[in-house]
Amino acid sequence: MTRIITIASGKGGVGKTTVSINLATVLATKFKKKVIIIDCNITTSHLSLYLGVYYHPVTLNQVLKGEANMLEASYDHMENLKIIPASLSARDLKGVDIGLLKEKLKELYGKADFVLLDSAPGLGREANAVLRAGDEVLFVTTPFVSSVADILRCKELIKENNTEPIGVVLNMSTRHDELSESDIEEMLEIPVLEKIPMDKNVTKSLAAKEPVVILNPSSKASKSFYRLTSKILGEPVKEGLVEKIKNCFKIF
Ligand SMILES: Nc1ncnc2c1ncn2[C@@H]1O[C@H](COP(=O)(O)OP(=O)(O)OP(=O)(O)O)[C@@H](O)[C@H]1O
Ligand SMILES: [Mg+2]
Repeated sequence: MTRIITIASGKGGVGKTTVSINLATVLATKFKKKVIIIDCNITTSHLSLYLGVYYHPVTLNQVLKGEANMLEASYDHMENLKIIPASLSARDLKGVDIGLLKEKLKELYGKADFVLLDSAPGLGREANAVLRAGDEVLFVTTPFVSSVADILRCKELIKENNTEPIGVVLNMSTRHDELSESDIEEMLEIPVLEKIPMDKNVTKSLAAKEPVVILNPSSKASKSFYRLTSKILGEPVKEGLVEKIKNCFKIF
């Protein structure tokens, strides 16, 4: 079965693309799931920038213009992980109909275990279409009232569509958060699946064009991404032999 999950937020810059990339990488590497990430943030796309690939001959833009199909726009990124990028050129926005996304996604059922839709922020036409296109929605927020309040509006929208949120990721958490996990759960009535700390390894990974879970797998952020993935999948993370031995020593 293919799970199509929209990674969404009300406010911009909260970490949707970071969560999409690291969640996809853990699913592909640790759990051996076949994953496709689609850059659905057509107007301000960042996915391919974060992965260090700047040109693709066919992109989601052509798919949404009716000039190509989804598989023609998909590229192998690593074993078990493909990406469908959006064009980085503003010229390619002409003629794109984001309203076609849900229909076009049907081409991917059966082609992957997970399809992650990295959304645009907010409730504009683009974000709205991506929220409606996924079968499930994972919200990302920072620990601020403004960021959480914006998710409330998105939640109303997906309710009209009969889509249930699978949870919230609290990203960029510090010791001085404006809102705690329980405050957020109370406001949204959605469980916080995982708290990802503000971690300089994430910014370093962006500069290195490598997901943090690959660049620094033992960082605090990476460990949170493993737990998040495991919760979404409902499977425990399989430990390698070295990790097993290290964890045994931690007991003593
Ligand atoms: N846990 C973290 N620790 C430190 N920095 C982070 C963390 N998560 C994300 N960032 C940084 O925050 C910035 C915004 O992240 P990202 O681009 O993933 O957000 P976004 O929600 O996709 O943004 P947009 O709404 O513009 O698409 C990036 O520079 C990223 O490296
Ligand atoms: Mg983004």
